[in-house]
Amino acid sequence: MQKRQLIQEQKKIYQQALASQLVTAVIILNQDLNIVYLNPSAEALLNKSLAKLYHYPADYIFANTTINNKRLKQLLASGQELTDSDIVIEFSESHRFTAEVTASSVEFDQKPHVLLELKQIDQQKQISLEVFQHQQWVAARDLIKGLAHEIKNPLGGLRGAAQLLNRELNTEQQEYTNMIIEQADRLTNLVDRLLGPNQLPQINQNNIHSVLEKVCQVISFSNEKQITLVRDYDPSIPLIECDQEKIQQAVLNIVSNAIQAIENDCSITLKTRIASNKTINGKRVKLTAQISIIDNGPGIPPHIQDTLFYPMVSGRSNGTGLGLSISQTLVNQHQGKLSCHSRPGHTEFVILLPLTQQ
Ligand SMILES: Nc1ncnc2c1ncn2[C@@H]1O[C@H](COP(=O)(O)OP(=O)(O)O)[C@@H](O)[C@H]1O
Ligand SMILES: [Mg+2]
Repeated sequence: MQKRQLIQEQKKIYQQALASQLVTAVIILNQDLNIVYLNPSAEALLNKSLAKLYHYPADYIFANTTINNKRLKQLLASGQELTDSDIVIEFSESHRFTAEVTASSVEFDQKPHVLLELKQIDQQKQISLEVFQHQQWVAARDLIKGLAHEIKNPLGGLRGAAQLLNRELNTEQQEYTNMIIEQADRLTNLVDRLLGPNQLPQINQNNIHSVLEKVCQVISFSNEKQITLVRDYDPSIPLIECDQEKIQQAVLNIVSNAIQAIENDCSITLKTRIASNKTINGKRVKLTAQISIIDNGPGIPPHIQDTLFYPMVSGRSNGTGLGLSISQTLVNQHQGKLSCHSRPGHTEFVILLPLTQQ
């Protein structure tokens, strides 16, 4: 009897201490899905204290993720546990992380609660995923380039032969050879775009903001949708070693997509910052210029998010799917990185360009 009591006492002590010792971040929600407890790991992960977040709705943390109120209510009703990996949690632009989240229902004080366990997906994994995706992109691009070359060579011969033949024919028959020439030209044009930018960048010292202003100028000429352009520039960014035309083209492709995607009266923000200690293709870069192109449109269709930068991936019926692939090539030519993060209402493309330290 005494032993049993002792075990009960011990159990209480350990259980109380347990949550505060766990490496896993633990969040407890009450029946109304408000936060009632965070263990120290959760406070560290979220960068906020329990005192600050007490009684905030779960939505505050999990906004725009698959962990929504409907599912949590279902969980409370059915008791069926749910696990989602790759949940991107963002409180503010500076504090974003990816986590695996498990939710289960538990009873405290005879009332049902939701127990959430969060495990941050570690950075190393994120980096290897990025490197892997980059390699996939290179493989896809090389395959298409190889094919494009193979098509291009005989096309020249075809067109030349049609031209020679043209001279031998009467006007009526020339209609056919003209058709061959016209279609060969159309194909050559497509193949050239598939081959992508083939000139090496002409590197100069450039002010990134004058490059962005050029883009603004181009789009303001045909601003049919009355889109608001917001500039959020950091004037302290030093001159960047880049090919002005190429960076302008890379940004223009991204902005054009945003314009096509958004409704009337939406906005596009061009933001520049200096960012330190970023990884570009698995390598750490001390100092970079960060150019973000943000829109508040519908977001990238989920089915193309993973292959967004591959050539010929398009979400539009009349799209070629080359714009982003070309932007990626242009940014890569500068040893930079182009990435994207999108959800409905917020799509953000980020270009990182290494800054040489002077
Ligand atoms: N800002 C954006 N908002 C929504 N969808 C976008 C955005 N940017 C790109 N996309 C999607 O990515 C696809 C690929 O873009 P891109 O490579 O430029 O090819 P294309 O514009 O020819 O379709 C687009 O078709 C569109 O579905
Ligand atoms: Mg495009």
